[in-house]
This record gives sequence, structure tokens and C-alpha cells, in this order.
Amino acid sequence: MQPASRVASLCAAVFNEMEVLKRQVEARGLQVINLGVGTPDRPPAPHIVEAMHRALDNPQNYRYPLEGMPRLYRAVAGWYRRRFGVELDPDREVLVLMGSQDGLAHIALAYIDPGDIALVPDPGYPIYACGIGLAGGEIYPLPLRAENKFLPDLEAIPPEVARRARLLWINYPNNPVAAVADLGFFSRVVEFAREYDVLVCHDLAYCELAYDGFRPVSFLQVPGAREVGIEFYSLSKTYNMAGCRIGFAVGNPAVIEVLARLKSNIDYGVFQVVQEAGIAALTGPQECVQENARTYQRRRDILVDGLAAIGWQMPKPQASMFIWAPLPPGYSDSRQFALELLERTGVIVIPGTAFGNCGQGYVRIAMVQDDTVLQEAVQRISSCYDFRS
Ligand SMILES: Cc1ncc(COP(=O)(O)O)c(C=O)c1O
Repeated sequence: MQPASRVASLCAAVFNEMEVLKRQVEARGLQVINLGVGTPDRPPAPHIVEAMHRALDNPQNYRYPLEGMPRLYRAVAGWYRRRFGVELDPDREVLVLMGSQDGLAHIALAYIDPGDIALVPDPGYPIYACGIGLAGGEIYPLPLRAENKFLPDLEAIPPEVARRARLLWINYPNNPVAAVADLGFFSRVVEFAREYDVLVCHDLAYCELAYDGFRPVSFLQVPGAREVGIEFYSLSKTYNMAGCRIGFAVGNPAVIEVLARLKSNIDYGVFQVVQEAGIAALTGPQECVQENARTYQRRRDILVDGLAAIGWQMPKPQASMFIWAPLPPGYSDSRQFALELLERTGVIVIPGTAFGNCGQGYVRIAMVQDDTVLQEAVQRISSCYDFRS
């Protein structure tokens, strides 16, 4: 049976190619070290798991959860106040999601009509472009380049494009390029959105994975941001709860209402047991968050320092769980290098082009293995390559 045309181009071919090669490498007896998919490898803190255990015993938690528990909405608002000094109305400015991906995918269906333009970073986290495509919208790519600190150049968008644009995606700390943004950049985004009447969607999934004392900011800290946009947050990375599927959208109440209305026709909400875990995460002790960040920082140093020793230089990210690594000397094609690296060393990284054309010349390395495995990855790469000559 023929699937609808909208699903035809959903999976980047390179992932299939790497999967086939991975199986061949494993068949040779080499254990693969997967630094590809950005899934946290660490467990949630014990107090979060215990809250889930307790919630499992409550028969009330097996009903349809629908829009979510008021205590969780208040917990989200409390966390935003403590973390960013941002006041949110839990009844109108917060929406609980089945992981932030749920919102990232559905916001396009809520705001994009066929033929509308959306401004999407290139490279970018794939669901932004994918959601726009599923809604029948047109993507206008915003190149993220090193010389511009991987921020989109809003001035370079032709006014006729900006006037037709309905939605702008931004994501800092960024996946895949691991760049960060400050309030000055977010202020320019607010001005742009006001001028052209564009909905801003900011994805803040990585704000608590930050290093060397750096503290990422929320888009909503900027005056006027709430009038033009919403922000998506995820418990997946901060609290290692990726499998639980819980996140939320916050900000503009009219947009939150529209997204909630759309979703109320599609799903019946987040399992209450998971919502209890979310409340425990947001309101409980936060040492686990700092400990998590320290772990990723250590991993970052093992990889970046270890690979620099063989002449593969890459900047140390200030935040996110990724290293955006320029290809080593002698290589110019991301796909070719990633496949060769897998073939020769069994280490999986993702070619930058899997995230858009402007990802050419880079690979994304996810810091999702423990120290000893990363040391082994560095050791394997060092025994196959020397880029110093
Ligand atoms: C930038 C970014 N946003 C959102 C998500 C999805 O997070 P969640 O688990 O909350 O759906 C990810 C997951 O990798 C991500 O990298």
C-alpha cells in the first residue's frame, strides 16, 4: 500500500546507511561505541524514581490524565521563577507535553497553513523542518555559521520572505551546533518578530547542561518575548528522564491555548505517574542537575583534549550534550568521514549534513557514554589516525 507523500522524505538516508555499516562492523567482532543518538545514558536521581514508585500504587493515576495535574503546572511556574526570575500563570501560560518533541511537532500544525513560510535553522534539530513539512509549509533555512557564532543572521532575511513568514525556530543551547545565545540576541529576535508578526518558538531543552559556570538564559527573560512567542522545555536531559516523555511549553497564553486545543484532539495527556515524577524533579533537590552537568563537562574534556592530542581540533562547547566538531585536516565531506570513522574504529558520530546542508564540514559527537568508554573511543581513533602531519 502506498503511504502518503508527506511521509516519503521523513528519514535521512544517511542513518540507514550507517545502520547497515554498523551491523557489518559488529559482524567483524568490533564493539561499536555509539556517540550518535543524543539519548542520556544516566538514570534519574533516586527521589524522582521513588516518586514514580509511589505513584504507581495510586489507582487514581490510571485514568486518562487529559490536560495534566494542577500541582505540576504550579511546579513548572515555580521552577521558572527560581531559575530565570520569569513569572508564569500556571493556568494560562503553561502546557504539559508528552516530551517537548510532542509540542515541537504539533506547533507547526497549529500555526502553519500550506504555503506559509517558516524560518528554520540550518543545521537544525530535525523535527523543526519535519513539522513544517508535515503541515505543508515552506522552509526558509537560516544558516548557522561559525563566523556568526552560530546565530542566525536575521538582517539577511529578505523582507518579502520575512513578511510571509509565520514562525521562527530558535534553539539555544543548540543541537547540533552546541552554541549558546544571550539576552541581546533574544532581544533582536523579539524586535524581528514584532516587526514581521512572526511566532517565535524557542527550544530550551539543554539549558541545564552547561559548563565552566556558564548559565544559559530563557527567551522569556526578554521584555516583550511573551507577546511574540513560546518556549519549550524538557525534563529529558536535565533529569535524565528521556524515556518518561515529559516536557512543557510556556509563554504566550493565546498560543498555549491553541496548542492545547489541537492536542486535546490528538492525545489524552501524560501518564500521571510520570507527572508525579516531573513534580518531584522540578520541586525536589537540584544537586542531581549540577552533578549531571559536571559529568558531561568531564566527558567533554576527555573527548576534546584527547582528540586535540592527535591534531583533531574542536571547540569546547559551553553547553548542550554535543560537540560540533569541524572535520579533521584532510577531510571535507561529513558523510564520507563519519562512515570511514565507523568502518575503521567502530565509533559512531553523526555527519553534520544529517541536520541540514550547512552541516557540511562537521560531525556531531554526543557525549552519551561514560568516561572509560570515551577514553576507549579516543584511544581507538588515536591508533587509526594522526592528523598532526
Ligand atoms: C534540541 C532538542 N529539543 C527537543 C528534544 C526532544 O526532547 P524530549 O525528550 O523532551 O521530547 C531533543 C531531543 O534530543 C533535542 O535535542
